[in-house]
Amino acid sequence: MAMEADAKSKERFLVTAGLPYANGPIHLGHLVEYIQADIFVRFLRLSGKNVVYVCGDDTHGTPIELAAAKEKIAPEQLIAKYYAGHMEDFASFFVDFDIYHSTNSPENKFYSDFFFEKLKEEKLIYERLVELTYCNNCSRYLPDRYVKGKCPKCSADGQYGDQCEKCNSTYQPVDLVEPHCAICSSAPVRKQSLHYFFRLSSFSQRLQQWLEPHQDIQQDVKNFVMGWIKSGLQDWDISRDGPYFGFKIPGELNKYYYVWLDAPIGYIAATEKYSREKLGQTATAAYWRNPDARIIHFIGKDIIYFHLLFWPAMLMGVGINLPSGLVVHGHLTINGEKMSKSRGNFLMAKDYLAVPGHEPEFLRFYYASHLVKAISDINLDFEDFKAAVNNDLVSNIANFVHRAMVFVSNNFDSRLGDIGADEKLFLQQLQPKYEAVLKHYSSYNFKEAVKGILEISSIGNRYFQDNQPWQLVKTDRKRCHRIVTAAANIAKDMALLSLPILPKYSEKVLRLFGLECPGGLGFGEIGRHVTGRKIQQPRIIFAPIEETIRLATAFPASLKVGKVEEITEHPDADKLFVLKVDVGNDKQIQLVAGLRPYYKKDELLGKKIVVVSNLKHARLRGFESHGMLLAADDGKRVVVVSPQQSEPGDAVFPEGSDAAEAAGEKQLNIEEFYKLGLKVKDEAVVYGGKPLRTAREIISVDAEDDAVVR
Ligand code: 2FM
Ligand code: ZN
Repeated sequence: MAMEADAKSKERFLVTAGLPYANGPIHLGHLVEYIQADIFVRFLRLSGKNVVYVCGDDTHGTPIELAAAKEKIAPEQLIAKYYAGHMEDFASFFVDFDIYHSTNSPENKFYSDFFFEKLKEEKLIYERLVELTYCNNCSRYLPDRYVKGKCPKCSADGQYGDQCEKCNSTYQPVDLVEPHCAICSSAPVRKQSLHYFFRLSSFSQRLQQWLEPHQDIQQDVKNFVMGWIKSGLQDWDISRDGPYFGFKIPGELNKYYYVWLDAPIGYIAATEKYSREKLGQTATAAYWRNPDARIIHFIGKDIIYFHLLFWPAMLMGVGINLPSGLVVHGHLTINGEKMSKSRGNFLMAKDYLAVPGHEPEFLRFYYASHLVKAISDINLDFEDFKAAVNNDLVSNIANFVHRAMVFVSNNFDSRLGDIGADEKLFLQQLQPKYEAVLKHYSSYNFKEAVKGILEISSIGNRYFQDNQPWQLVKTDRKRCHRIVTAAANIAKDMALLSLPILPKYSEKVLRLFGLECPGGLGFGEIGRHVTGRKIQQPRIIFAPIEETIRLATAFPASLKVGKVEEITEHPDADKLFVLKVDVGNDKQIQLVAGLRPYYKKDELLGKKIVVVSNLKHARLRGFESHGMLLAADDGKRVVVVSPQQSEPGDAVFPEGSDAAEAAGEKQLNIEEFYKLGLKVKDEAVVYGGKPLRTAREIISVDAEDDAVVR
């Protein structure tokens, strides 16, 4: 094929993805970029290119310091915790970095100082007095996240000192109107401090000359950046006063590099770690000053300014290679909405994996089907996701592969036959389609690559169907063998073409043919006929999705522990008891419950129960009922849910939600309550997979799985 390994080429690729902040777990929005870059890296590697994929945690700055303070731990502890978590999340989605490093590393300190000293020497860094917000009460300067007030542009209240979340404008903390200290709330004063500035303004022309003719930067991105350059670039404050979590500036007592100075240098630091260990070279020798190196950054559209202005200018200033490619993607929306904690759609990598049947490769497939080199947002719509996975990946691709392999296995003793002239001709027609898929990968157009694979799969399915091998095997066994061998070869080629997107799945398929991954396997194998050999017994790899992700909505029922204090038989209804229940805070309510067929009076007296306290009040045969108690019903037995270690008044809520947040205020009618679908799983009462609990215990009940709780 076109993309054979070129052993002689000295070209080497360095691919980076943005360094995630070390103050939160990896979410589905993050994964767009790491998966996108991972697909591209795998594509390059399978094309025989020399490529490394580097990344690491972005560990410095105020938000990290704040998050650590909130958890009452040192920033070092916080970043260590997230480092481990990030590595785990990436691995679970098969994002395969060659090195995952950290900006809080000796390599990064070294290169940050190197940049600083060199830029200073070149007179590209100078000192200037700045006016800052200072809190006398806390005895500290207040960096952007430590001061809040009204946006100077749109007057929105409660904005931080760097950027307005309402109108997106950026400004300085001193520009805030009616500022207050975010730690102690007192009004800050203005105080001067000597800061270091990078002369970004002097780079306007050079940046423009670099950008405009650049072959591997999107036009929409260029337009943005040209707009900024034309409206005049400001010099950039690259220092912060202590206390600050970051690297101290050489020769200074209490000044640090601003996080965005050392963050992109983190790319070099990660390369250094890799190159030293794996190549015995420095990062600069191997990549950053190597004329044969091609550096490609994958970033989100929110950090264009840093990567297309500050970063290239810094690189120009010290004479280090500029990026050969910048791939800028849009944001992830969920069911058409921006991800946010308050909307309850801020989904972590782990939330996705917790849904039964959600293979990590399903998400890779879905993202790939939407990824092009553009800054438009990517929407993860759960219904669309389910349809794409079930119809395209499972029913079309995986099913074809499985069908062809099973047929060979069952009818030809797991041995491939020959490819005859007819089959050869047929397979040849697919070659241009294979080439097109590879071409789409190379231009970051994964959406079209997926379409191409789906088309090939449909052709394969049709070929199989039209030839009716299940009939042919009875009349012309030889020809049948040739045809299913051709089909199996399409399956093999599809697995190769899908390798960048579905690395584990494809590996399994290729292993059936005795093709070992990675083991030097590359796109060179595409179109090379595999005949005559034994294949392994195929097994179903992907099953369709049944459930989709359920977004956490506030739990609408208000549940409380109560204790039965009085119990009488209803005078006119032989199934009903009338109960007086202590629900804490000296409050007693009356409930009417249909428990007489299942319980004797004194079995219930004194028992702790769980009460739904926000049900619309009802009258049952003349008696008021101000709620209901929970019992599990498995069709044979009815068992009252009875917490053991909790006390009347204790809130009962789904695990993982906040007790206060969970307590629904709105009155529910009985149908709305039934719709919550509370049921028993492993002897616990669960809501949407989460067990109900009080602060003291998980609510358990002695009933069969799937018994309804109402
Ligand atoms: O925006 C972010 O999440 C940053 N942590 C990205 C840094 S990319 C690079 F410059 F380090
Ligand atoms: Zn203060």
